[in-house]
Amino acid sequence: MKRIAAEAAVDAYVKDGMNVGLGTGSTAYYAIRRIGQLVTENGYRLTCAATSIQSEEIAKGFGIEVVDIDSVGKLDVTIDGADEIDPKLNLIKGLGGALLREKIVAAATVREIIVADDSKLVEKLGTKAPLPVEVLKFGHEHTSFALKRQGCEPVLRMRDGEPFVTDGGNYIYDCRFPNGIDNPYFIESRIDVIPGVVENGLFLNTAFDTVVCDPEGNVSKASEREA
Ligand code: A5P
Repeated sequence: MKRIAAEAAVDAYVKDGMNVGLGTGSTAYYAIRRIGQLVTENGYRLTCAATSIQSEEIAKGFGIEVVDIDSVGKLDVTIDGADEIDPKLNLIKGLGGALLREKIVAAATVREIIVADDSKLVEKLGTKAPLPVEVLKFGHEHTSFALKRQGCEPVLRMRDGEPFVTDGGNYIYDCRFPNGIDNPYFIESRIDVIPGVVENGLFLNTAFDTVVCDPEGNVSKASEREA
């Protein structure tokens, strides 16, 4: 499902000559692979910027040259994954740990295209996935107390017995809201003013389209699911 959605999105939105953002995660992997085919087999000339060190390495492995985001102007399109997609195409991202660079790249992108299997579709954000919040290491426990006051249960993300460290050198708290997130714009505004918060995983009014695959292999764009 991930592969089918990712390849369909690349084929629909990536054109020769474009500036392209490369997402992070297991679904974005297939998009990067397909973009690599366009470059190495179809002769596309693309200028690509990555949302993580991991995706940059994957892209290079598929024969894609990756440039610094600051060496390109606007990106025409970015193909990235998501952890949750609500009916308004608002998203939770960051379970792969790349939310900060993903948000910077999304902000530099004209068309942010989200690829996913249909398990990512939710009626309300925060009902399946926790909200990842990237925080500075300095004083992170104090930051977590402030996050908790927003009505969630923040858990420091661990890997191999140590706190997970992002590409930016920060920690992540995965914040579970017991009843989901009723007003994501309000929650985002509250979280963003907490000292020590670097970025949150709410991507609101960011996605231009979502390309989703169901277990039968049917691919739909957002406009087709509404119909
Ligand atoms: C990376 O930080 C995330 O935002 C991913 O895009 C998201 O977690 C989706 O990943 P998968 O495609 O692996 O589910």
